[in-house]
Amino acid sequence: MVVSLVSPRLLMIGGGAVARVAEVLAQFGLSRPLVVTDPWMASSGTVERLLAPLRAAGIQAAVFSETVSDPTDTVVEAGVARLRAGDFDCLIGFGGGSPMDTAKAMAILAAAPAGTHIRAFKVPAQANRAALPVICVPTTAGTGSEVTRFTVITDTGRDEKMLIAGLGALPLAAVVDYELTFSVPPRTTADTGIDSLTHALEAFVSRRANPEADQYALRAMRLIAPHLRAVYREPGNARAREAMMLGATLAGLAFSNASVALVHGMSRPIGAHFHVPHGLSNAMLLPVVTEYSLPAALPRYAEAARAMGVASAAEGDQSAAAKLLEELRALNRDLEVPTPRAYGIEEARWNELLPRMAEQALASGSPANNPRVPDAEEIVALYRRCYAGG
Ligand SMILES: [Fe+2]
Repeated sequence: MVVSLVSPRLLMIGGGAVARVAEVLAQFGLSRPLVVTDPWMASSGTVERLLAPLRAAGIQAAVFSETVSDPTDTVVEAGVARLRAGDFDCLIGFGGGSPMDTAKAMAILAAAPAGTHIRAFKVPAQANRAALPVICVPTTAGTGSEVTRFTVITDTGRDEKMLIAGLGALPLAAVVDYELTFSVPPRTTADTGIDSLTHALEAFVSRRANPEADQYALRAMRLIAPHLRAVYREPGNARAREAMMLGATLAGLAFSNASVALVHGMSRPIGAHFHVPHGLSNAMLLPVVTEYSLPAALPRYAEAARAMGVASAAEGDQSAAAKLLEELRALNRDLEVPTPRAYGIEEARWNELLPRMAEQALASGSPANNPRVPDAEEIVALYRRCYAGG
């Protein structure tokens, strides 16, 4: 078996690391960054946590702060226009998954001839080229985008969340500082935390799992599972915040080197059509999809349950897997994850869109990595069960 592993060239992890971004730039001979962030990071002053130490090191960074949640093709184009208007040698994605994914997509699009649409790079295309390096500084413990070879961009013309994959989307460096997550509100903390748990679990059961990515996934589950409720209830719990941040990054390395699977495949269309935050739509799907997938990979799910600490080492696979399912349902209750119905999505609209959502889920390629591969009809049935909170 030949395994191909990717990760950023430099990973700096720990409390206070954000103050050392200038040092990271200097190591790579970079000095003219364009910071890519969202309007809240800019207006709340959070981005100063990055900009002030850069200024102290003599770097006046320009800021593009127009990123949106569920980043779009149009914002990526505006970002590239900003990039081309200045003299920059790197991008710094600062924020949650959206600013980081926007920065990565900007680097990919800027390497293409003018007039190219970002959809030219959606899977199965390979987005291997970037115009300039990207340094990522995550402010949530969630997407793992700081270490992955993926970016997800919404095609506004087609209401589709496109998966874009390749070395062009892989950051040069990631600076992972859990102290940036203390101010993340509980809802976002829960959603992003479940997203990272989903990354680890899906990477571990994926048909593209491999022994190396497994180690990242297992370590991530050991870190995330015992701390997810704590960060939701006690935002100032430093130990829990630190564990979640490291867990999210390791989960990113896990799925970047294996893959995500059916939960993510079905989650993106929910985000595209109903604007449910990514981690939340994952959470809505996770118990239903896990129940469906369990029989096809029982020993793997059982091992995941043991890593998460919800089953003992001595417990048989059947019982451990049942406990995993129980835990996923309990997590959704404890973290107050609504069903699509409770979230306010109208049933008629949901049902009407299901065939299209199933088609988009399958087209993303992620369901094919699932231990049990559904057809469109089965995906529709799973969406229906998810709606009612089944
Ligand atoms: Fe995700």
